[in-house]
Amino acid sequence: MEQNLNKDVLDKLTKVCICKAISRAKIKEAVKAGAKTVEEVNKITGAGSGGCGGKRCRCKIEELIEQNIKKV
Ligand code: FES
Repeated sequence: MEQNLNKDVLDKLTKVCICKAISRAKIKEAVKAGAKTVEEVNKITGAGSGGCGGKRCRCKIEELIEQNIKKV
């Protein structure tokens, strides 16, 4: 329980998309809402459309989609 709480806090604090300051929690939410590609996550959260054009966050978003879709 406590571990879950820590995880949630970390998810909120960890920025996946630095340009747009989108947290890991936001990405997970988008995946839960049905996003299955980086483009769909981008549409929902805006992650990946910052100054670097997704260069710094695309891999991390892909990873999160993988991990979180498998769980469903
Ligand atoms: S870090 Fe996501 S667009 Fe630059």
